Amino acid sequence: MSGTRTAAELDQEAAVRSVLEDFYRDGKPPWDSGVTPPELVALVEGPGALTPGQVLELGCGTGTNAVYLARHGWRVAAVDLVDRAVRQAREKAAVAGADVTVLCGDATRLDEVGVPGPYDLFFDLSCYCGIPPHRRDAYAAGLTKRAAPGARLLMFGYGLGAFDDSWSGVTADELGARFTGWQLADVTPGTNPVPTFWFTLQRAAAAA
Ligand SMILES: C[S@@+](CC[C@H](N)C(=O)[O-])C[C@H]1O[C@@H](n2cnc3c(N)ncnc32)[C@H](O)[C@@H]1O
Repeated sequence: MSGTRTAAELDQEAAVRSVLEDFYRDGKPPWDSGVTPPELVALVEGPGALTPGQVLELGCGTGTNAVYLARHGWRVAAVDLVDRAVRQAREKAAVAGADVTVLCGDATRLDEVGVPGPYDLFFDLSCYCGIPPHRRDAYAAGLTKRAAPGARLLMFGYGLGAFDDSWSGVTADELGARFTGWQLADVTPGTNPVPTFWFTLQRAAAAA
């Protein structure tokens, strides 16, 4: 992809950021349930649970799941684009006594954020599906660069058409094409009234 961004792409990024900032400015965003999803709990505590290591959460919001991961022995870095979300996540971690590094930054520009990795696990709860399409290759490249051999990515995403716009959403085909050197290990439909999915991707055990 060319490093030159068109005016339309810049406008789209600015518009997305503005909408997100408004949600946090106006109070508690609708997605901020404070509940860790069972799909993450299964990976962390279920049969065949992963051995705790380093995890990076993309689009951490107010930090519920970053705190959960830290409490279960993971070394956690968490990133969100919106400063208010980051401040709330830091407060939540402090109140919980959880050791979480929460950074304000763009999940598609991780070189600017200070999260070198390598990470054994990436967790994304409806961040990627709202990232403008022209930034998604950079998201995939940033994770690939920071992935330990055999690393997992657990992602929840809204499907195409879930929202009233022409661009948001994610499909298994898209992830399979974009995440080169990763295997799409599982796709499980969510239980929402609109199309949603839990995706599990795994990085090759030895770098390709
Ligand atoms: C739907 S919310 C979900 C928040 C959190 N994962 C949760 O479930 O409570 C999406 C989050 O991703 C963040 N986000 C969106 N685009 C981002 C980007 N490019 N880089 C970092 N965070 C981003 C938003 O600010 C927001 O907090």
